[in-house]
Order: sequence, then C-alpha cells, then structure tokens
Amino acid sequence: MTSTLIQKETPTDFDIHPLIKERWSPRSFSPKKVSRSAVNQLLEAMRWAPSAMNEQPWEVLAAQKGTKSHDTLAKTLAPGNQPWAPDAPVLLLVMARTTYSNGAPNHSALYDLGLAVGNLSVEATHLGLSLHQMGGFDRTMARESFNLRENLQPVVMIAVGYRDSHESLPEDLQQRELAPRKRKKIEEFAIVDF
Ligand SMILES: Cc1cc2nc3c(=O)[nH]c(=O)nc-3n(C[C@H](O)[C@H](O)[C@H](O)COP(=O)(O)O)c2cc1C
Repeated sequence: MTSTLIQKETPTDFDIHPLIKERWSPRSFSPKKVSRSAVNQLLEAMRWAPSAMNEQPWEVLAAQKGTKSHDTLAKTLAPGNQPWAPDAPVLLLVMARTTYSNGAPNHSALYDLGLAVGNLSVEATHLGLSLHQMGGFDRTMARESFNLRENLQPVVMIAVGYRDSHESLPEDLQQRELAPRKRKKIEEFAIVDF
C-alpha cells in the first residue's frame, strides 16, 4: 500500500520565500536516517547566526535514534510529545549559555538562540528535512541526566527527520496533522506608519 504525504496549505496574504512558506511542524517522522553530513549542515547554519557581542550563546546535544542520549532525551518528553517524538531519527536538545565569558548575565542569550534555531530551520527545509520544536519536556530531568553546568539553560528540544504519512499516527494526532494552518493577521501584531 502506498500512502501520500499531505501537502499543507500556507495561506499567505503576501508573497514570501518558499523556504519559509513550506516549513511546518509534523509529528509523523519516517524511520529514514538523517546523515551525519546533514546534521553538520544544520549546525553550520546555526553557527552563522548573529548574536550579541558575537557570543554565540547556544549549545546543542544532537542524538541519533538508537543511542543512549536519544533514549535519555526521549524520556524527558512531556506526555503530549511521548506518542510521536521518540520516533524522530534525531533529537536535539538546545541550550542557552546565560552568562558572558566574563561571568556577567547575557540577557540576549534566548533571543540569540532563537535566531540560531531560525537559521537551522531554514537550512532543514532546504535539505528536505522537517523539524518539530518542543517546549514540552522536563528541564530538570534534562539538566540532571546530562549533568549540565549551572549557566546552561535547557530551552527547547527539536525532533528532526523526514516526514512520513499522517496515517502512521494515532487517530487524534492524525487530526492535528491535517488541521489547517492558522496565523494572526499582520494588523494584530504590527502598526505600520508608512
Ligand atoms: C518554543 C516552541 C515550543 C513548542 N513546543 C511544542 C510542544 O511541546 N509540542 C508540540 O507538539 N508542539 C510544540 N511546538 C510547535 C508549535 O505548536 C508550532 O510551531 C505552532 O503550532 C505553529 O505550527 P507550525 O510550526 O506547523 O507552523 C513548539 C514550538 C516552539 C517554537
């Protein structure tokens, strides 16, 4: 039996780049492995993000399925993410280094990390990979499991892989996979005095 991948519609009001338009966050991942070179390209994209004082305050643990780190990361996931995210061939734990090299607090660290993940996201789409970012995980468990330094803040986990058919998901998640994409209108978040 062949199953087709759903094509999500992105109802933009204005033209945007296909790499932004085509990205969305699936829950169904194929068992197809993500190559080490693709992971290198994702991390390279993060590397070239801008950051305050060029501090680059992001640190990443990238774990391939079948490794102890992947198993450990999967155990930290919140119940809502447990039924699907452990199947992703790669899990990333993305952490912010919250202090500058001189020990002063870095108030831009989370902002900079978001920019780096934005770069990673564009590169992933370019490579035909999908991402699903998750705030739903136990940060204390992640911190203890990997014995993280005090100034490393676990921020987000990211499932990475190739999309699979929504039919491989449990029924309730299939509905979420098929749901139309929604966004606020520009007028709801921007005042344009032009
Ligand atoms: C920081 C962050 C945390 C998120 N946490 C979760 C999560 O724990 N579980 C989940 O299913 N989706 C999570 N998402 C995915 C969002 O729900 C999703 O990006 C949003 O609904 C927009 O959908 P789209 O990415 O398909 O455009 C998260 C996204 C971000 C950026």
